[in-house]
Amino acid sequence: MKVGLQTQILPAGEAAVAAAARILAAGGLVAFPTETVYGLGADATNAAAIASLYQAKGRPAFNPLIAHVGDLAAARRIARFDAAALALAAAFWPGPLTLVLPKAPGCAVADLMTAGLETIAVRIPAHPVARDILRAFGGPVAAPSANLSGHVSPTTAAHVASDLSGRIDLIVDGGAVAVGVESTIVGCFDQPMLLRPGGLPRAEIERVLGRALLAPPDDADSDSEQPLAPGMLASHYAPRARVRLDAVSLEPGEALLAFGSDAMAGIDAAAAVMNLSPRGDIDEAAANLFGHLRALDSKGVGTIAVMPVPEQGLGEAINDRLRRAAVGRP
Ligand code: TXA
Ligand code: MG
Repeated sequence: MKVGLQTQILPAGEAAVAAAARILAAGGLVAFPTETVYGLGADATNAAAIASLYQAKGRPAFNPLIAHVGDLAAARRIARFDAAALALAAAFWPGPLTLVLPKAPGCAVADLMTAGLETIAVRIPAHPVARDILRAFGGPVAAPSANLSGHVSPTTAAHVASDLSGRIDLIVDGGAVAVGVESTIVGCFDQPMLLRPGGLPRAEIERVLGRALLAPPDDADSDSEQPLAPGMLASHYAPRARVRLDAVSLEPGEALLAFGSDAMAGIDAAAAVMNLSPRGDIDEAAANLFGHLRALDSKGVGTIAVMPVPEQGLGEAINDRLRRAAVGRP
């Protein structure tokens, strides 16, 4: 692990993009904004760089990463696209969608990045800073969310710094991200399968496919030895505090994570209150989710009570992350 590294923080711009490309080419680690969450980038073809990335995050090495590329031609050099995958790429890239596909013959990505799987996760991000860095670097960039393994994903450069300062080379600060939850992951196997709900709502994907996305097999997402989306461990998004879901009233000393009107019994004695979206807007709630969880958790409260969030649109991803947060740490 590169503990003791001096982590540079640069505002997004030409100098930061050039520094990012230079550091990636030298095998270093660069955090940068995408439209979903901040990613921690490394050269996807450099096994040593990937190894140091796993170490900087404290991430178990069996958990494969997403290869970020700048365009479809670059994606097709590392992954095999069937008709459904091409339709999804045409409709949603660049954007908050990751496709899991068979590796292309001669795929240059390090085995460590795919954790030895025959499949590879690929995404073309939409954030202009991410796109500039990918263009300047010129190759695939492995980028998990830029947080310590088990923490909630970072939506600002300050979140990245609080987890990874001293462990990575550079943080490119592009401000708060727009979407706020990680990309939706679709496995393009015989039939497209929703591996992780995320920043692209299921309904939009199903509209393009003309059919429903399959659900992963029951044992695939949490405790099995070889989960289909291995990062979807039940406790992946755990804050320190206990998380209590579907709160309709507050116990003394609890903090409240509200959605819509927070009028409820016990609110006057709340340790803290933060609202995902006072006007009940689901996209705004997604953008605020991880920042609000971090802020409430940093107050040292015992329990964060969370109001119900509707399952529509990005609500599916929000509720998925909240359920995982409620499981607690191993
Ligand atoms: O929005 C995002 O997707 C962000 C930004 C930075 O792009 N990235 C992100 O990466 O959330 P990460 O590493 O936190 O989550 C990647 C997920 C993990 O659950 C991992 O198990 C899954 O993708 N994954 C990667 N390769 C896979 C593969 N070949 N098969 C199945 N799942 C895979
Ligand atoms: Mg992550």
